[in-house]
Amino acid sequence: MSTYADADLPQFYPGMTADAAGTRAVFLAARGNAALARGVFGPLVMRHHDVIELLRDKRLRGPGMDLARLSGIPEGSRAWKRQEQILLFMEGDDHHRLRRLVAKAFTPRSVEALRPVTRRTIAGLVDAVAEQGSCDAVAALCDPFPIPVICALVGVEAERLDDMSRWASSILQSLRLDAGEHLAEIEQAQAELDEHITDLIEQRRKAPRDDLLSNLISVEEQGDRLSPSELLSVVAMMLVAGTDTTRNQLSNVIHTFAEHPDQWSQLRARPDLVAGAVEEAIRWEPATEALPRMALEDLQIGGYLVPAGSVVILMSMSANHDEAALPGADRFDIGRQTPDGWHLLTFGGGIHYCLGANLARLELVEALDELSSRFPTLRLDGEAVLNPPGSPIAGYASLPITWR
Ligand code: HEM
Repeated sequence: MSTYADADLPQFYPGMTADAAGTRAVFLAARGNAALARGVFGPLVMRHHDVIELLRDKRLRGPGMDLARLSGIPEGSRAWKRQEQILLFMEGDDHHRLRRLVAKAFTPRSVEALRPVTRRTIAGLVDAVAEQGSCDAVAALCDPFPIPVICALVGVEAERLDDMSRWASSILQSLRLDAGEHLAEIEQAQAELDEHITDLIEQRRKAPRDDLLSNLISVEEQGDRLSPSELLSVVAMMLVAGTDTTRNQLSNVIHTFAEHPDQWSQLRARPDLVAGAVEEAIRWEPATEALPRMALEDLQIGGYLVPAGSVVILMSMSANHDEAALPGADRFDIGRQTPDGWHLLTFGGGIHYCLGANLARLELVEALDELSSRFPTLRLDGEAVLNPPGSPIAGYASLPITWR
């Protein structure tokens, strides 16, 4: 069996396509040709079946702290310590224990309770631009959307929204591959956030409320509780995991509909399709295109040998478009009925499956419902500019739209 590195496989690098349609076309060609392509760090797994299998395979693990090391975050720094306690970078018993405790506090009821603030937030943002007839959707709608929701979730008062937004943007830099170059900014923001959350923890210990922080403080299982440092890390995790993903995903959803005016009209005529429309739009242009994993043993993937120690990238974007798993996958269709056994990969799978998937869906449903009821048409009004190549989350830096 040939090693993937010796095989004649297409090579992908960040920024090789100018737009989402180009990426879909390149992935389609690669998927038809072989199960793997070659990326900057290692093999790219292109097919739905393989991605699903490998997400559940114990011979691979998440990137752990290797990513922090690679991106230049010094061991022992505050940023390093916080990342060590972020679920996505943990494995085994430590991951299992923390995920169980956090999931206990992050219940379907606490997510559902966020519906009113989510709707108020998107309605306020639309109100501010409705008369204009056009806007940059990223600046006006997507960027400001998730922070008030996350603040309400955690239990941070509205007057600290601007600070939370600033801390979120700075701490997000810790996920970049050149994070070391932004260390001073990351550490400063993390220190300020820690100080604020430490104060809030004290307040909630004395007077609990109906918020995630109070729930996290009180959650207990067989005598096990979250430590003060874990509480700080969980809040930072929610802030990081729940802002950039949602704001970029909303930009992708808006872009997709701007390119499919017939589907926009259908949604306006059939608002009951909104939940299915969100599922289809996040399949079409997912904010998370690739899930990095480390191979702990030699693996055989699609007839190629992938040696232990390889960084294996599971291409969720490609898998979402795999015709072998979803008939008619190359069509954007909000009325689609998915076959039994279909698994959308936008929220990952296996032990790291997105803990916030229900909240993200709620946010996107409320946003799309508000937008489709207010904008009779939706079109691009200039050039849609993608995030710079290498950004950890796929979305738009600028998205001029009009509904005139
Ligand atoms: C549309 C928005 C979102 C998308 C596309 C998304 C996507 C993902 C993906 C793909 C993963 C798994 C990554 C991997 O396996 O490598 C993940 C994990 C995670 N997400 Fe989300 N996410 C979104 C929103 C949220 C929100 C709103 C929250 C919480 C407030 C959240 C919290 C988390 C957490 C805590 C994990 C780590 C779970 C673990 O490792 O056990 N996400 N997300």
